This record gives sequence, C-alpha cells and structure tokens, in this order.
Amino acid sequence: MASAVEPTYWLGKDTLRVSATLFAENRLGLIEGLKVKGGLQPRSVVVLQGGEQKQRYCTDTDIVFRQESFFHWAFGVTEADCLGAIDVDTGRSILFVPKLPESYATWMGRIHPKEHFQEKYAVDEVQYTCDIVGVMSNLKPTVLLTLRGQNTDSGSICREASFEGISQFQVNNTLLHPVIVECRMIKTDAELEVLRYTNKISSDAHKMLMKHVKPGQKEYEMESLFKHYCYTKGGMRHVSYTCICGTGHNASTLHYGHAGAPNDKTIMEGDMCLFDMGGEYYCYSSDITCSFPANGKFTAEQKAIYEAVLKSSRTVMAAIKPGARWTEMHRLADKVHLEELVKIGILKGSVDDMMKVHLGSVFMPHGLGHLLGIDVHDVGGYPEGVERIDEPGLRSLRMGRLVRERMVLTVEPGIYFINHLLDQALADPAHSCFINNQVLAHFRGFGGVRIEDNIAVTESGVELLTCVPRTVEEIEEFMSDPGSPFSPVNIQ
Ligand code: GLY
Ligand code: MN
Ligand code: MN
Repeated sequence: MASAVEPTYWLGKDTLRVSATLFAENRLGLIEGLKVKGGLQPRSVVVLQGGEQKQRYCTDTDIVFRQESFFHWAFGVTEADCLGAIDVDTGRSILFVPKLPESYATWMGRIHPKEHFQEKYAVDEVQYTCDIVGVMSNLKPTVLLTLRGQNTDSGSICREASFEGISQFQVNNTLLHPVIVECRMIKTDAELEVLRYTNKISSDAHKMLMKHVKPGQKEYEMESLFKHYCYTKGGMRHVSYTCICGTGHNASTLHYGHAGAPNDKTIMEGDMCLFDMGGEYYCYSSDITCSFPANGKFTAEQKAIYEAVLKSSRTVMAAIKPGARWTEMHRLADKVHLEELVKIGILKGSVDDMMKVHLGSVFMPHGLGHLLGIDVHDVGGYPEGVERIDEPGLRSLRMGRLVRERMVLTVEPGIYFINHLLDQALADPAHSCFINNQVLAHFRGFGGVRIEDNIAVTESGVELLTCVPRTVEEIEEFMSDPGSPFSPVNIQ
C-alpha cells in the first residue's frame, strides 16, 4: 500500500515533483479501459516488461538507460530489467526487480531491498524477477495479458513480456495493446502537469539560445547549450530526440542533426536558424521548433516566409477542437501556405487547383503534427479502422483520427526549399504551371522555416504549452534586448 507521504520523483531545486499516484491512476485507467473493451476473462493479469540495460555493441560499456515507454506509463520505474503485473480484478500491482549479484554493490552501488522499491513506487508488492513464476502462479490467473502490437510510426512491433516459465500460463497478446494505446493517448491532469513542465523548460532553453546565437558559432554549440540548459535547470538527462540545429540551407533537411549531418556547420551572417529540440523529464517529452535569423534581424524574404508559416500555425490552432479532423488541419495548413506563396510571388494561379495536385507537399513534405507524450511521436495516431491517406504530405501525417480532448499534439507547419523536391516539381507540368521559377530561384539555399508548438486539447479549443517569442516583432525585440534572464552569462 502507498505510504502516508506519497512517493515522489523529484530532482531537487526547481525541478518538478511528480507523485507516484500519476502511475497508479494510469493503471486504474487501464483496468477501466480493459473492462469497457470487453472480451476480458475473470482473473486476467496484465504483464509488462520494462526496458533492458544495454551495452555499446560487443563491449561492456553501458548505454545510459531510458525506460521503455509503456512500462514507464504504468509504473514510473526508472531502473532497468524489471517486469510489472497488474491484477485486473483487484487492481493489485506487483513490481518485479532483478536480484542483483554482490558485485553490483562494488561497481554500481547499494543493493536496495524490495521494501525500497515498494516505497519508492507505491506499488502493492515487490518481488524478484527470478521468482516470477511462483508469484504469478499464486495469483491463479486464467490468462496473462501481454503487450504485442505495431507502432504505427516506425512499423516496429513492441517487445512482448516474456520470462522463463511463461509457457505454463495461458497468454493473450492481442487484447492489451489497443487499450493501453488509447489510455496513453488521453492525458490525465497529472500527465498534463509534467508536459507543461517539459515545455516550460524547453521553451526557456530555446529562448536562451535566441539570446546566445551569433554568426561564427557552430551549430553543435547550440545543441550543447540546449542540452546543458535542460539538464542543469530542468533535471532533464535526456532530450526527446536528436537535436536538430539546421542553419542556412541545412534548415531544409527535415531531420538534420543525425550522425551523417551532425550539426557541424558554422553559422553564417544572413542564415536562418531552424532549431528543433525538446527536453524530456521523467520520460515525458517536448518537441519545439524555433526559426529565426542568426543575426536577430529578418530580411524581407525571411520575414515573408516566416509570416506565411506563422499564419498557417495560428489558423490551424484556432480551428483545433474536439471533433476536428486532423487530416483537414493538415490540408488547412497547406492551403494557407499556398495562398501566402502566391502573395509572395513564388506561385501563381488557383490555390484550389494547386490543392488538387497536392502542391503544398512540395513545400511541406511532412505531416502537420503528431501526438506527444512519453514518446515524442506518441502512440495512437492510427487505431484499427483508421487508414493513412496515401497522398503526398498526408501519407507522412502521424495521426489520422479525430481530435479529442486531452490529446497533446504538436502543431508544426513549415515551408522549406528542398532542392530535389523543387526540381521534381519543375519537371512535372502539373506542378510547374503554378511555379514562378524566377522568383523561386531567389529562395534556393534559403533553407526553411518550421514553427512547432505543443498543445493540449481542451473542451473547446487548445491550451498552448509552448511559450517562446513567435511573431517577427517579438523575436527581433527579444533577440536585440541585451538584458534578460536568458543572457549567456547566466547559463555558464
Ligand atoms: N523533431 C521531430 C519532429 O518534429 O517530429
Ligand atoms: Mn520537432
Ligand atoms: Mn514534431
């Protein structure tokens, strides 16, 4: 049972306190979801397997551990190599932890007794993983519900719980996945609180970079400063995904920053910066993109493209509410982009006709946004019965379903000048007839603009979680103001 003082995850100083009740509530929600779904046998027991501690290739060098997301959602356990069980009839939770060898105490530190984990995580019982068969047998389950299902973004199948002796039990691996995915998609108040925090810290980290950036610096210095801020101020050991610090032409590479393009360019005078980075606290994500000129002053061309994207961002955000069709939100962003590109002179002709040939996807090849939670591309975008629309742009959309209250989503429209997509469009008469190539030529090498905010869907609209300067005026004023809590001296 939970002790009098609720166990809390807290990294001290100004970091967020997260009560273990967040996970108890999640487990209750899962039981409810299973009961509502139907098909449940009496004495069913959910079994989830936590993440494993892994090493670099064939070496003995540990990779910094990060918990598996479903397991984290249900138990909030930070240690590796655990399993967890939830008795659906009684709600009783059992955490299984590894029985560690004595050498652990020498190399890794104190070996905690089972009581330590019971207090730390407010579960009903803690047992050793090596005893799992006996403990499970005592529950006399009719069936173990294990987690097997596809991640609709990666196509990968999640790893089903398994332990020596599991073959003695009847196992159902189809019931749990769709239910737990739906539960993860709808955020509780406690989860929203954590996501507000990850957004606050990450927004501040972006603001600090806007103050700090100067032509002559390296993109990786921005990555380093972002991570430093998130960890030192926010207790965020991990970022939610590889940092994208594209400047100049690199801003047109959607997922720049990977090992083949590792944020290693020197930032130049006149470059636009596209910084897409988000810190993660206690496995909850954030995913924020700020686009701004490296020297703090927009050129006329930069302002035109930036304001076109901001217009689509704010138009879409005003239209999002429960019941809204996410695919239509994507199309709305495309439409605003095309209208604005006509005003700028890059495109000519009827926007309706452009929409018919999916011209928007030449400038925004990715989806408008995605669910966000424990994973940056969180689960739930395509439940059974919701099909991906196989059209340029929309086929990259990570959510095909209607918007619901308590979803947390990114809204991340962008306009990019991606040479090979522009060349393809110019070679295709169905597209080239709309393009004014002389004007377009001025924008080759520009890179791109993405404006990415995180929102929580409310009863009637959205709550904007991200808080950074967004209009051209706000950005220019913020970047030119030398005195502020984000001046570089304050983070050294
Ligand atoms: N940073 C990846 C994304 O925006 O989805
Ligand atoms: Mn992003
Ligand atoms: Mn995103």
